[in-house]
Amino acid sequence: MQESLSGTHTARANSNIALIKYWGKRDAALNLPAVGSISVTLDALSTQTTVAFRAGTGEDELLLDGAPASATRAHRMLDLIRERAGTRSAATVTSTNNFPTGAGLASSASGFAALAMAACAAAHVDASPRELSILARRGSGSAARSIFGGFVELHAGTAPDGSDAFAEPILDAADWPLSVVVAITSREAKSVSSTAGMGRSAASSPFYPAWTDTAEQDLADMRSAIAARDFARVGELTEYSCLKLHALMITTRPALIYWNAATVAAIHTVRELRDGGIPVYFTIDAGPQVKALCTPADAPAVAQALSAVAGVHEARTSGLGGGAHLVPRP
Ligand code: PMV
Repeated sequence: MQESLSGTHTARANSNIALIKYWGKRDAALNLPAVGSISVTLDALSTQTTVAFRAGTGEDELLLDGAPASATRAHRMLDLIRERAGTRSAATVTSTNNFPTGAGLASSASGFAALAMAACAAAHVDASPRELSILARRGSGSAARSIFGGFVELHAGTAPDGSDAFAEPILDAADWPLSVVVAITSREAKSVSSTAGMGRSAASSPFYPAWTDTAEQDLADMRSAIAARDFARVGELTEYSCLKLHALMITTRPALIYWNAATVAAIHTVRELRDGGIPVYFTIDAGPQVKALCTPADAPAVAQALSAVAGVHEARTSGLGGGAHLVPRP
């Protein structure tokens, strides 16, 4: 064992938003998804993480947006990387988001993708993009997708060890420029975490079997809509997957209701814009924010309409972004 290791690296990863949603785990310990998912990586929401391994053992230290944080899943990911590097050295992790943490803006996606990449580099572990995606998935399912840019699919896989549960790029961001306008309706951290909510849905919603049974068809439909660059079809499938997810959440016991009044108002605004001739489609994760998918040309009008909705604090426009990358040292 290489007892003592020292090395520092910084990585930056973008967040992503799922068009076909992931909800439910086929293995909780390895964090294996019960269904596949398809997302777009967002260039305006990112996490930058520096990992420094220091000589000697001890506790890992984690600073999230300047404040000390305790994150079991981050420590577990570092343990996996230490095991692979053959070291027991402790790490100092400094991570900053350029958006509010834990409020349905997928900070875990960009956070665990950046952590996996920075920690592997700092530990001198040579991991392929697929291995990084598998590692990021251990932190959070959606993080597996943030290793890559553009349109990305995370496979649920069937292998008990999770070796086939990784993400892969479908289409580069530059090949089909789109915009996502994020309407922020609350800056508070969500009440029920995704992991807790997923377990609860699987255990109690009568819709859960329908959710898993219909996932493959949704993925196949979305893949072909993306391949055909059929924006209306991509948008229609996106809203369908989102509403199916929230129907599952609402029929969970106790119910998972992540929406607030402004979330519902923003949904109606998107539908009104569409009735008025602007092709725009909404999606919502385990939180109250509404993300509107549109063309870059329509993004200013969509952002203006969403900012005017009562209860919307801010509408932030993002393009599609690239995958996680190491940041060169100054
Ligand atoms: O990756 P997690 O554990 O934060 O779960 C993500 C769940 C959703 O955001 C609701 C859907 C998705 O595919 O991102």
